[in-house]
Amino acid sequence: MVLHPILLAYIVPSAVAWPWIANVPGVDLSAIHKNPENLPQQRRQTGLDPTCPFNPDHPGAAPFDLRFPYTGSIDGLPGTGIGGVQVPAPGDTAHEFVPPGPNDIRGPCPGMNTAANHNFLSHDGITNFAELVSAQQNLYNLAYDLAVFIAVRGIALDGDIATTKLSIGCDATERTSIDPTGTLGREPGLDAHNKFEGDTSLTRRDYFLNNGDAFTFQGDMFADMYRVANSTSNGLFDRDTIAVYRSQRYDESLAENPNFYFGPKALLLYGAASFIYEVFPVFGPEGDADIDTVSTFYGAVSDGNGGYDHVPERIPENWSNRRTAYGILEIAEEIRYQYSYAPKLFGGNVGTNNFLALNTTFGIIEDGTLPSEVTAKDIACLLYQLAVDNVPGTVANEAELPLEALTWVLTQLNPIFTNTGCPLKIT
Ligand code: HEM
Ligand SMILES: *[C@@H]1O[C@H](CO)[C@@H](O)[C@H](O)[C@H]1NC(C)=O
Ligand SMILES: *[C@@H]1O[C@H](CO)[C@@H](O)[C@H](O)[C@H]1NC(C)=O
Ligand SMILES: *[C@@H]1O[C@H](CO)[C@@H](O)[C@H](O)[C@H]1NC(C)=O
Repeated sequence: MVLHPILLAYIVPSAVAWPWIANVPGVDLSAIHKNPENLPQQRRQTGLDPTCPFNPDHPGAAPFDLRFPYTGSIDGLPGTGIGGVQVPAPGDTAHEFVPPGPNDIRGPCPGMNTAANHNFLSHDGITNFAELVSAQQNLYNLAYDLAVFIAVRGIALDGDIATTKLSIGCDATERTSIDPTGTLGREPGLDAHNKFEGDTSLTRRDYFLNNGDAFTFQGDMFADMYRVANSTSNGLFDRDTIAVYRSQRYDESLAENPNFYFGPKALLLYGAASFIYEVFPVFGPEGDADIDTVSTFYGAVSDGNGGYDHVPERIPENWSNRRTAYGILEIAEEIRYQYSYAPKLFGGNVGTNNFLALNTTFGIIEDGTLPSEVTAKDIACLLYQLAVDNVPGTVANEAELPLEALTWVLTQLNPIFTNTGCPLKIT
């Protein structure tokens, strides 16, 4: 007989593990002894969630190297904001592409997966605040304010505010949490639904429609997005393509997903979508978001039958990041543009074809919509509110941020929102 998978999940990689297992009644190790090549696989280490890859090697991001400064962000501090830099720089072998191994965690974000595959984040997929803030500046030339904002959102929702660690995919609580036993609570990582990840994603299915898998790349959806690029913008994944496709994704979720939820936090999904045309092209908005560029960052390869397969995400060859840094006010303008292109109701389905619009006020969101004359600055202030206030939900009630989390979020965000003119909460 072979070992039961549940039993295997608890085997720790130590020599003493085998005598212990050998004493368990009914366990026959002869199959393993006869096939010693199975050993590494059989003895794979696991964490609290045995389905989440476990890599005992946590290398950390490649250290800052003065020969290849990029935008000069060290240890999560502000860099120069001056981009137009080739990444990886010629000769910078530390940031060469290395595909993830079976023990490395990857998740729903092509930007983070690419960064980990090039060692701008730790290659095992367990990262932290300093790595996130430096990687976003040095690799993509995001402005310091936006890099901090997104990192804070990710860590507060899906990671650990004490260690500042975050899994870029599945639940790795034993490696991210201040409490590795998980007794105080689990930290789900970026894969978690209705925290950062949400319905209407561009290339990931809705949680409810795919047995809880809202993080795996879907080739048919990538082809759908390309089809919109062809019909809207001669094959380019530009701002109009993304605005049209996001609107289409909303309509699909509304029609197909009886548990569809689109709360105020969904505004962030417009922001993530803007990276495709503001950050992925060579020199950002100066370059073309063409199929080759976008596919490389997404790890999309044509299967020759109109669909797409997935390979590890990577930076295109001879790629340079955008010259001017992409900050909170800039992303707010792109959110405004996409939303205004095809305004949608915030709210959710409670069953098939039974949509309830959000009927409580949240910031400037009233009667389930943003006002038609909304400005980029209004959106920037709304982003702040999303991070520091309890966000209402008609369908899925969103959990209140615990007080320690709120204090940490305010400590991080108030300095970067000081000059926006948005009303700030006191810590
Ligand atoms: C700390 C930084 C970041 C975190 C925590 C993060 C997290 C996420 C998460 C959770 C999603 C899934 C959202 C959904 O449900 O659709 C997402 C989507 C996305 N992110 Fe990120 N992200 C970060 C930074 C970036 C950066 C810097 C880029 C680009 C350079 C990027 C590009 C994207 C894109 C294009 C999507 C849409 C994926 C799709 O559905 O096709 N992200 N991100
Ligand atoms: C988009 O247009 C290109 C060029 O005509 C074509 O090769 C490609 O198959 C089209 N993609 C889709 C998804 O329609
Ligand atoms: C990248 O640049 C090198 C050196 O200029 C050149 O030889 C190579 O063909 C370029 N590759 C691509 C894909 O443009
Ligand atoms: C708001 O919607 C909820 C259902 O989600 C409903 O119970 C409530 O009565 C509504 N309130 C108003 C003022 O319409």
